[in-house]
Amino acid sequence: MERRTVYMDYNATTALRPEVKAEIVRDLDVYANASSMHEDGRKSRVRVEQARTAIAKLVGATDPQSIIFTSGGSESNNTVFATMFHLGRTGSRRGIVTTKIEHPCVLNAARWLESEGFPVVFLDVDEYGTVNLDQLARVVGPETLLVSVMAANNEIGTVQDMRAIHSIVKNAGAYLHSDATQSVGKIPVDVESWGVDYLTMSGHKLYGPKGVGALYLKKGAPLEPLIRGGHQEHGYRAGTYNNIGILGFGVAAELAQNELDEYVVRVSALRDRLRDGILSAVPKCRVNGNPASMLPNTLNVSFPGAEGEAILLSLDLEGIRVSTGSACASGSLDPSHVLLATGVGPELAHGSIRFSLGRDTTIDDVDYVISKIGPIIARLRSMSTVSF
Ligand SMILES: Cc1ncc(COP(=O)(O)O)c(C=O)c1O
Repeated sequence: MERRTVYMDYNATTALRPEVKAEIVRDLDVYANASSMHEDGRKSRVRVEQARTAIAKLVGATDPQSIIFTSGGSESNNTVFATMFHLGRTGSRRGIVTTKIEHPCVLNAARWLESEGFPVVFLDVDEYGTVNLDQLARVVGPETLLVSVMAANNEIGTVQDMRAIHSIVKNAGAYLHSDATQSVGKIPVDVESWGVDYLTMSGHKLYGPKGVGALYLKKGAPLEPLIRGGHQEHGYRAGTYNNIGILGFGVAAELAQNELDEYVVRVSALRDRLRDGILSAVPKCRVNGNPASMLPNTLNVSFPGAEGEAILLSLDLEGIRVSTGSACASGSLDPSHVLLATGVGPELAHGSIRFSLGRDTTIDDVDYVISKIGPIIARLRSMSTVSF
């Protein structure tokens, strides 16, 4: 097969859609501050509010004002945890419940609260990466302040049952947060039926710009600003509006909403083709994640007897861009905390690759990857001293 470049790292980030790019270019000339009261400022503000409405719609929020713009998923998550710090210092509830498979920006925020004396429970997951709901029901109680569970995992793609989680949490009166950074634009997200008080999203995971995100805030839920200053975003998040980012995010959200059904069908078919092709090209590999509840675009495979970085670099030489674990963990030689939590041993976790597909992935891309992976794994295994 002729050499080609195949990008299969869409969970790390996505390219701007042409429509988003066009919006950003248009917006470069709409420079007025969206908080200014003059005509140009008001025009600029109208466009910010259109973006807010599109994003609210994508996550099923009826009130656009429940969407607060931030710089991305990390900031949205940290704002929620910082809010809990303030509430827990003065209130009677201080318990934090989250999971072992969260993104580092949640894990490290939870560890920070733990270091400040907050009791934190990191919930177990099963072999598929599904949160243990019995354990959740056992640990949530009158002292619990926050339950934070990611809607879908960035490394293995497992999707959690947010409605079931809500039905456990609501009886305890704790706040419910979900990091939906990997879910928005890939699966239906509905803040109302999920019963969340807070929901995190990020523009660059759905073909929007980097450096912009949002936090859904349920009416009545408390929020303490992480960034203090002007009155933007009802005082919840100060700083001059990032029009370019916000408007690009808005267009991306609108497109994602219009195309979601078609995206799920098309991309999951390609992902399944890739999975089946890899399973028949490479003996003894293991597919991670929950086959019954997965992001449509994600495929995480462990290749015993081969080392993840070596696989990644060999694929890269063939023009194929993938990740071991998450992009945020790359550079670290620690095995994936997500795979370890699912019971995969450290050696196998080290030999795991995340293929994440997207709207520009084609059948030819998939077949190209299938044609390359077999010989690469065979070569690496032949050099390995590890028996499997
Ligand atoms: C699940 C999850 N949460 C949060 C983030 C951080 O988002 P951002 O890059 O917008 O800060 C990411 C990005 O990789 C993610 O996958």
